[in-house]
Amino acid sequence: MSNTALEQALEQARELDQADPLAGWREAFWIPQHENGQPQTYLVGNSLGLQPKRLAEYMNEELSHWRELGVEGHFHGPRPWMSYHEGLREPMARLAGAKPAEVVAMNALTVNLHLLMVSFFQPRGARNRIVIERQPFPSDRYAVESQIRFHGLDPDECLVELGAESDRRLVDEEQLEDYLAREGDRVALVLWPGVQYATGQSFDLARISRAARAAGARVGFDLAHAAGNVPLSLHDAGADFAAWCSYKYLNSGAGSVSGVFVHERHHGSDDLPRFHGWWGCDPEQRFMMGPDFVPAAGADAWLLSNSHILSMAPVRVSLEMFEEAGYEALRRKSRAMTGFLEELLRAQVDDLVEIITPADPGRRGAQLSLAVRAGREAGRRLFGHLTRHGVVGDWREPDIIRVAPVPMYNRFEDCWNLVRRLDEGRHI
Ligand SMILES: Cc1ncc(COP(=O)(O)O)c(C=O)c1O
Repeated sequence: MSNTALEQALEQARELDQADPLAGWREAFWIPQHENGQPQTYLVGNSLGLQPKRLAEYMNEELSHWRELGVEGHFHGPRPWMSYHEGLREPMARLAGAKPAEVVAMNALTVNLHLLMVSFFQPRGARNRIVIERQPFPSDRYAVESQIRFHGLDPDECLVELGAESDRRLVDEEQLEDYLAREGDRVALVLWPGVQYATGQSFDLARISRAARAAGARVGFDLAHAAGNVPLSLHDAGADFAAWCSYKYLNSGAGSVSGVFVHERHHGSDDLPRFHGWWGCDPEQRFMMGPDFVPAAGADAWLLSNSHILSMAPVRVSLEMFEEAGYEALRRKSRAMTGFLEELLRAQVDDLVEIITPADPGRRGAQLSLAVRAGREAGRRLFGHLTRHGVVGDWREPDIIRVAPVPMYNRFEDCWNLVRRLDEGRHI
């Protein structure tokens, strides 16, 4: 990059930051520091979101209820623990584009995918396949393989992976539609990501749901990289189920509680198998201690255990902040910032990295995945250079650097800083 181009790009980034109506939200987060005492250029909100400053107060409230009320905290205080998860329902429904009864917060993501597959993967005769994309997050692959084996079936026969051999290539909905048109009567379940973790590609969930349901299959989504990143309308999309974690774009802390969606057409259904626990009981019955399980209405019937209060408090903070900032405003900034980064990368370091994420802003969220053209070894050196200068992305084998400018706390200047350090990295 010539010095002039670099200076001009910095000026432009600073102007964009100044004009950004959401710029003030950065102050609401703890930004980790680099060893030189400056804030890191933190571009891994797609992996672990940053801690909101107001979280300590919300956590302390729960700690003091526990300290002062003991077991009575279940029934007293401003947010009694008995019904704590209820307080997350409405904002979580708005996040997911769902009806309130269709969502519930519980467990962790892989646990929930298993619980949902207990209900929605019901192999019958020849209809015994699960269709996934070829590069799923490993936990999803382990989960579906073990579900297939649990039914006494063989993953070599029942697990179908769609997409190109190369990890650079994107899968499109058409490939899935073509497969379902040919083999749909063999498919019991389609399990698909909302946003693909390695490439950053986002999918048309309505189109996928339509194709799966037309083939007579169930359809569920892993929204780990979509929740809090791209707009969701799960109810209208017609998904049977979905689950997401809250520690990435939702900033709720490592391992924090997951969200679940079950479409209302399945509520109260008698023909879905489901694992049961006391918290999934109708709240009127929960403490009757009777032997018979009377399910709660809606997605709550999938609840097993009493609420993880200390991991739901961060979700409460997070959803509150998203609503204050506004989903539409966040998405607008996200598109602008990722677009700015993309343009700068293409203009300045196109010879160094290939952007494998789709160029169409409607086909991606915040994340861009950069394949290092010179291969793994050069890529590791480049990544090391970024890290030494406080630019935090993440490395995915064999040669991909993932970065996600997050609209809540990243600045346009962070995008510039990444490109500057990449550009310098060509000389190391
Ligand atoms: C796409 C995807 N699915 C599943 C998981 C597993 O999540 P958990 O460890 O919360 O079960 C992750 C974790 O990062 C993920 O990115």
